[in-house]
Amino acid sequence: MSNLTDLYEKIAKCDACRLCKQRKRVVPGEGREDADIMFIGEAPGWHEDQQGRPFVGPAGQFLDELLQSIGLKRSEVYIANVVKCRPPSNRDPLPDEIGACRKWLDRQMELINPKMIVTLGRYSMARFFPGATISKVHGTVRTNEGVTYFAMYHPAAALHQGSLRGVIMEDMLKIPSFLTQTEAVPEESKLQNAKKAEKTEKIEKVEKGARTEKPGKTEKVQKVEKAGKVENIEKAEPKQLSMF
Ligand code: URA
Repeated sequence: MSNLTDLYEKIAKCDACRLCKQRKRVVPGEGREDADIMFIGEAPGWHEDQQGRPFVGPAGQFLDELLQSIGLKRSEVYIANVVKCRPPSNRDPLPDEIGACRKWLDRQMELINPKMIVTLGRYSMARFFPGATISKVHGTVRTNEGVTYFAMYHPAAALHQGSLRGVIMEDMLKIPSFLTQTEAVPEESKLQNAKKAEKTEKIEKVEKGARTEKPGKTEKVQKVEKAGKVENIEKAEPKQLSMF
C-alpha cells in the first residue's frame, strides 16, 4: 500500500470534528503522487461529498478547463482541500474544523512534496499567505523552502461573479512560467523536504510496530526511546512547515 493510500484510509476514519457526522464520504484528495503542482481548495461541496472526489461539481468543471488552458489534465496534478468533509449547506469551514484537518493536509504536502502549491480561495490562501486579502494577493507568488506558493481566486467565485472568470483565467496562465522559475531554484531545499517526509515515514513504521506487534516489539521501541530518540517518536505527527 502506498503512503498516500495509507493516509486516505486514516482520513476516512477521522472523527476529529463535527463534520464527520453528516458526511456521506470523506474527500481526501486525488492525483499524482509525484505531482509538481498541488491545488488546494476549501472544502467539499455536495457533488464531492457524494463521490468522495475533490472538485467534481461545477467549480471542478471550471478547474478542469483552467488546467486544460495550460496543457494539464487533472491526473497530472494533485488536488486537495483544506477540509476533507463537507460543511453542512456548504457553509464556510469553521476555524476548529480547519484545525482538526490540518494534520491531513500537512501530511499530503509532505508526501506529494510539490514544487508549487496553488491556493484556490480564501481559506487555502489564509494558510500560506497569512494576513493577505485575496483581491490583493491573487496572481502573485511566495516561495519558502524551495516551494512556490501561488494564490488564486476559488473557481466557484467565477460562477457567482462572472467578472472574475477572466481574472482567474489570466492568473492560471501565469502558472507555467512560475513553475519554470521554481525548477531553476537549487534542489537543496526540496531535498530537505523529501528527507523530512522520509523521516516521518520511518517514525510511523516504528509507531505502527509499537501498536500492532507483540510485547517484544514494544520493548524494541522502548529501547529506541531510551537511546534518546523519544523526541522523534513524539514528532510522528507531521511538523508544520516553518513559515506557516
Ligand atoms: N470547492 C472546493 O473548495 N473544493 C471542492 O472539492 C469542491 C468545491
